[in-house]
Amino acid sequence: MRNDILFGNGDEIPSNHSGNPHIQDVIDQSRRKVVAGGAALGALAFLGVTLPSAGEAASRTAAIPPFARRSRVPFEPVGVTRADTITVPSGYVANVLIPWGTPITGRYPAYLEDASNSAQDQAEQTGMHHDGMHFFPIDAQGGRGRSSDHGLLVLNHEYIDAPLLHPNGPTVVNGRRVSAEEVRKEINAHGVSVVELRRDVRGNWSQQPSSRNRRVTGATPMQISGPARGHALMKTRYSPSGTSTRGTLNNCSNGFTPWGTYLTCEENWAGYFAYRAETQPRELSRYGVGDAGRYGWETIPGDEFERFDATPRAESATGDYRNEPNTFGWIVEIDPFDPTSVPVKRTALGRFAHEGVVFAPVRPGRPLVCYSGDDSQNEYIYKYVSRDAYRPMRSNGSLLDEGTLYVARFNPDGSGQWLALDIADPVFQAACQAAGVTFADQGEVLINTRLAADIAGATRMDRPEWGAVNPDSGEVYFTLTNNTARTEADPANPRSPNPYGHIIRWKEQDKHHAGQAFTWDLYLLAGPENDSRSPQGKPLDATNIMASPDGLWFDDEGRLWIQTDMSGSQLNAGPFGNNQMLVSDPKSGETKRFLVGPKGAEVTGITATPDFRTLFVNIQHPGEGSTPDVFRSEWPDGPGKRPRSSTVVITRQDGRRLM
Ligand code: FEO
Ligand code: CA
Ligand code: CA
Ligand code: CA
Repeated sequence: MRNDILFGNGDEIPSNHSGNPHIQDVIDQSRRKVVAGGAALGALAFLGVTLPSAGEAASRTAAIPPFARRSRVPFEPVGVTRADTITVPSGYVANVLIPWGTPITGRYPAYLEDASNSAQDQAEQTGMHHDGMHFFPIDAQGGRGRSSDHGLLVLNHEYIDAPLLHPNGPTVVNGRRVSAEEVRKEINAHGVSVVELRRDVRGNWSQQPSSRNRRVTGATPMQISGPARGHALMKTRYSPSGTSTRGTLNNCSNGFTPWGTYLTCEENWAGYFAYRAETQPRELSRYGVGDAGRYGWETIPGDEFERFDATPRAESATGDYRNEPNTFGWIVEIDPFDPTSVPVKRTALGRFAHEGVVFAPVRPGRPLVCYSGDDSQNEYIYKYVSRDAYRPMRSNGSLLDEGTLYVARFNPDGSGQWLALDIADPVFQAACQAAGVTFADQGEVLINTRLAADIAGATRMDRPEWGAVNPDSGEVYFTLTNNTARTEADPANPRSPNPYGHIIRWKEQDKHHAGQAFTWDLYLLAGPENDSRSPQGKPLDATNIMASPDGLWFDDEGRLWIQTDMSGSQLNAGPFGNNQMLVSDPKSGETKRFLVGPKGAEVTGITATPDFRTLFVNIQHPGEGSTPDVFRSEWPDGPGKRPRSSTVVITRQDGRRLM
């Protein structure tokens, strides 16, 4: 029995074998020695990174007039814990909502505790492994609105724990899957859920039976739009025109557009495909497609499963699925208000292991700007700028089809550049020529986004996860969760290796975010007390010690919410306890732990009602590594019950705004 079928998860293995520097050319060997290991704090200053020193932070605090000193994070921080529950500060309440298997549509099939629900049941229930999500308020007429009592919660289901999805785990014989029903259930446990919610007069939230409730799965038909639509490299037996595909997979974080649609991001999709041949085309090799799929879906006969085997078998691409993996790795737009709408893969935003997408403040008459990270070791951060201007009250979907994709270079002096990945751009053309690489058209550039970014000279980062834009300053923050494969430190990624992660931020020179120059610094270094740095320039302490930051979100008042995704020994044996969520005030640097999740769970996904009296947070894979016989967590259903990913609703006991 293959271990990866039993315990396959969302690994982010490196596939960046380009020669791109970690800016090591510009840092001499002796400096690198200073940077390595636990000396990163001193190295930040040494390398001219513009973090405030502890003294500067103190003098800034002293300069703040007394009336403004009231903490903007006014709660008693919760301590590190390994309790198998949700821990929040006193005065707050956390309630479970829509755990995996909750009936939401169709026949509303009840969740069966022994995991014996059918594949069809699963297509009518919430999926597994809740991740990014967004609350879309509904107005009195049923359209998009500002209500804080009624809305559509849209959430991703990133991947599955096959041992928990079936009564006795997946059936595997001689390395092959043998039950189409099981595999269909796994595909249906992926994707996105749209769930209508209401808050009653007592302040309690519940899901509603609704014609708008919907499951989008790993099999839902999708359109392909943008420069790669109809490209020769997108043609398959299913879509000889290269204009459509089936399903979205490994949907990690998310975004939402100014016109009220949901964006779901395909992250570790490469692991779902197999390609068995001597050499792989660059569209696959640069993304880490292996010779067997993570769950072995390709080992079952039938077109719906064979598509996961990209090995060429026919005369041409329209006779097999050699190009099926090229139809994944995109950002997908879903209109949650129209349950009959066909999701659209927006290829102009690039093809990589998309973690999430976050928009710069939107201004009528200006181009749309959004940011997305490629969460794999030594991969890049990207920015997209639409060609046309945003116009409220118009259909703006095409803004995501025509524009320029850029990739970030973080210079050691604290400056940075956005490098265009545009076949019409003379600088990019020259870089391609120098590298001896050719692209036939912009569609091919985008299908090979990682290669294009290698050529442009982007900075290899420590696994870019979520981004968030500070509503007060316009600064963009990104988590870099960790990178055990880093061999050379640089100022933007100052530890080698980097087991704990950090948060980088930058300020665009153009206040509308559309330009190519920015300045950057490091906001926080995660880690234990002896190898960390808070935004106040001090080591992290009992109130905020953390590692592997991942989820990131600004509330409307400019507080930064940070969620962690530690795993393995960091989670089970380190000083950090279970995964957690912290709140950080960029104005004061004050950073405090607000929530600790149950055992073996990641804390991820965050959205609020407009009145900020309700916060929705997701708990993913409680009891990670559980088997049908041994549940490593019993959250949320209690003793003897299999653990279930779930949304958690956080409110204040007194019903007021959260902060
Ligand atoms: Fe799915 Fe990068 O976390
Ligand atoms: Ca996750
Ligand atoms: Ca993540
Ligand atoms: Ca992660």
